[in-house]
This record gives sequence, C-alpha cells and structure tokens, in this order.
Amino acid sequence: MRIAMVTLFPEMLSMVSDLGVTGRAVRDDRLQLRAVNPRDYTTDRHRSVDDRPYGGGPGMVMRPEPLAAALEAGREFAGEAAPVIYLSPQGRKFDHERAKSLAETPGMVLLAGRYEGVDERLVRSAVDEEVSIGDYVLSGGELAALVVVDAVARLLPGVLGHEDSAEEDSFAQGLLDCPHFTRPEQYKGEDVPAVLLSGDHAAIRRWRLKQALGRTWERRPDLLEALEKRRELTAEEQL
Ligand code: ADE
Repeated sequence: MRIAMVTLFPEMLSMVSDLGVTGRAVRDDRLQLRAVNPRDYTTDRHRSVDDRPYGGGPGMVMRPEPLAAALEAGREFAGEAAPVIYLSPQGRKFDHERAKSLAETPGMVLLAGRYEGVDERLVRSAVDEEVSIGDYVLSGGELAALVVVDAVARLLPGVLGHEDSAEEDSFAQGLLDCPHFTRPEQYKGEDVPAVLLSGDHAAIRRWRLKQALGRTWERRPDLLEALEKRRELTAEEQL
C-alpha cells in the first residue's frame, strides 16, 4: 500500500516508517510511505503556507494553493484513485471498520493541517473524506494521520506474523480484548489463571471469550449493543 502524508513536519513520519511493526512493513516493502511538504509547493519569496483568516479572529489558516499542489504530488505517489483524507476534529470518527476498509485500498493521501485549519474551499474541492480520531483537539493532524497509518498498516496482508494475527485484536470481533499474562507464574501475590496453564485449548478459548465479553459489558456496553444490532440485521437478511 502506498500512503502519502501532506505535512509541514515530514520528520514526524519517521515514527511509523522507522519503528516497530510499521517499520518492518516498510522494510519488507508491503508499505510505501512518502511525506509531501506544502512549503515545497509555494511560489512566493517567503514560502508562506498560511495567512490571516478573513473576518478576523485568532490564528492562521493554511492557504489552498500550496496544499492543492502538495495533494496532487501525493496522488502521483499514492495513485490517482487514492482517496484524499483530511484529518480534523470535524470529521467522521475513525474506527476499526474504517481501518479495515482502508486496508483494502491500494493507496491514500492523508492531509495533516496545522494552525486553525485549512481554507474550506480546499476541503470542498480536493478532499474526499474528513476523519477525526476522537473528540479532542490536537495541535495538528499529524498524530491523527499516524494513528490511521498504524491502524491500517497492521491489517495489510503479511504485516503481522501468525502469532500476533490481527484476528485476535480488540474490536476484530467487535469486543474488547481478553487479559494477557506471561512469566512469572506469580506476581505481586497474584497467580496466572489456572486455565491458562492447563493445556486445554478449548477451555482456554472459552475462558478468553468469557473475559472479553465481561470486560466489554463492564467497560463498553455500547459495543455489545452494536453487535446485537448487527445480529438482528443479519437475521432479518436471512428471512
Ligand atoms: N486534528 C486536530 N485534532 C484532531 C482530531 N481529534 N482528529 C483528527 N485530526 C485532528
């Protein structure tokens, strides 16, 4: 998959391109990443990427022309059909389902804004989708873009080994993950649950599912309601 990130801080891409699971995906050539700096597409002497907002008010707004040119360059890298995704708190909330569908596309262009945001006409003319990673405001879209890159990259074929397969992740089944334990067998007065030492794989699977259900019920009952709704829908489809 080819991902271009339009950003004034191209160095931030190294967090995913150099480290961990995503770094390995880059080295294995399953993931190609490219930062595109809109400052490189300015035509004025000061290389300015922002300007004061019409109507006044605090902060600056990113100018549309350098962004449009940078997005074009991003598309050249990620493919002409690649969706342009603008990270902003006004966007639709990002989740596992969206990560899965993005993992099916061969490329995408992520636009990370700074300052108060980007000129609305650029959003309307060049952006396919606005995505938020949560109801809080970051100082820029870069961290949100990196979240999207990481969540999508780990779902690409071959990126995770069999042992840490994405099937087992939280949310893969619509539930939170079960608790995990490793050595030592006793820690701070607490034993590893006996069933995990039993070697009975069916019992272990049942225990893990029960734990996942219990945690989801306690911490995120909304996820269980969503599962219930989905089940009702599937049942209706089968009628
Ligand atoms: N940019 C600033 N805050 C953001 C958020 N919560 N999600 C996505 N992009 C952002």
